[in-house]
Amino acid sequence: MSTQPFTLPPRFADLKREIAESYPDFQERATRAWAEIVEQLEHTSETVVKTGPDYIPQVNFADLDKLGPEQVDEIKRKGSVVIRDIVDDSEALAWKASLEEFIRVNPDVEGNPADNKQFFQLYWTKAQVRARAHPNMLAATTWLNELYHAQPGAKLEGVNLSTPLTYADRFRIRRPGNFWDVHPPHVDGGSIERWEDKTFRKCFNDIFTGNWRSHDPYDLEGRLDARSSLYGRPNQSSVFRTFQGWLAMSETAPTQGTLKVFPDVLLSNAYIILRPFFRAKVPVDSPEIFNANNWEFDLSSSEFHGIYPRDGGYAGPRPTPVLHPHLRLDTTMTSVPKVNPGDAVFWHCDVVHSVEQEHTGTGDSAVMYIPAVPLTPQNQEYVERQRDTFLQGRQRPPDFPKGPAEGNFAGVADVSDILDPLGKRAMGLPISVV
Ligand SMILES: [Fe+2]
Repeated sequence: MSTQPFTLPPRFADLKREIAESYPDFQERATRAWAEIVEQLEHTSETVVKTGPDYIPQVNFADLDKLGPEQVDEIKRKGSVVIRDIVDDSEALAWKASLEEFIRVNPDVEGNPADNKQFFQLYWTKAQVRARAHPNMLAATTWLNELYHAQPGAKLEGVNLSTPLTYADRFRIRRPGNFWDVHPPHVDGGSIERWEDKTFRKCFNDIFTGNWRSHDPYDLEGRLDARSSLYGRPNQSSVFRTFQGWLAMSETAPTQGTLKVFPDVLLSNAYIILRPFFRAKVPVDSPEIFNANNWEFDLSSSEFHGIYPRDGGYAGPRPTPVLHPHLRLDTTMTSVPKVNPGDAVFWHCDVVHSVEQEHTGTGDSAVMYIPAVPLTPQNQEYVERQRDTFLQGRQRPPDFPKGPAEGNFAGVADVSDILDPLGKRAMGLPISVV
């Protein structure tokens, strides 16, 4: 993966101009905002690096409804949270054991790397289906969904943040010692679409107008109808996930192959969104690169930094130290604190995240990917298609790469594994189905 800029087709320079023209005094306001953001990044980075993993908020599942407004605000600003003891350790460990058994009795399952499978193309094992439908998982994701809000008076037909939906994703059982370099810092859930799709762009209105401090990553305006997948790439989520997340099935501490985040979603959004409108006047390896005076407003290039062509569409944002020096990613990407089985980590859909390249521990680092997904018309439509893939032979869910169905594997889930009515509702199943 090159860290050099990718030149996108010339029409993207037009897109930049179109954006610039659609906001009053764009050049002046964006330039002022850019200098402020760069300065704030310097201060925040220092605190993040000094504090380390403890910078990331940690709360007990049982205390979610007792948190004070300051704690909630901190979670929202940082954009990531560890929620402890969502399920009992024993239950999470039993799920891991059942997944290992599933893999043992079905040696043909697809996984990476092929000679030592650790990341599995499996969606419908009993453990996964039960974990997603667990009442506490649904309660935790509902709590996260409810951190979002609509503008007063906004019409949100078919939206209910208190109704969680299920998004079927995969799991990993990462073995110690293995080197993974497939997840450098990136943002999921929409690439060039963040600028190109007019609705998605609305999420960042306050940044484009220069009022970046007022940017609210939890405002539903724009999020619900944003088209995050204009080019229909596989492996690109087409639903609105308020938070991505994983549920731990093992202990995992920093250095043991865990998640890393840039723990300030307001700042990273503001910086990444404005970055394509600025050009450095000094070499990137100069210490002067951090000074905002050494940057100038520029609409001439078609580059959207960190966005690159892939599979007929575009991938990223994938910020890098070269393209996004002020994020100081080499030191600010912060490992989440140690988790135990049954704890979960969630990160806002705009958060820059990566996976530690090395796992220097002695045990497996095992997680199931389970995001927070609220009821919206678009999400409901996806869940119904996803339900059909489940019911029709346990095929892979619509957002994921095509491949063999799981229906013939021993130990795959069926409808009876979803006991809770809320879990059935989340899967788009009639409550009466048994
Ligand atoms: Fe990701």
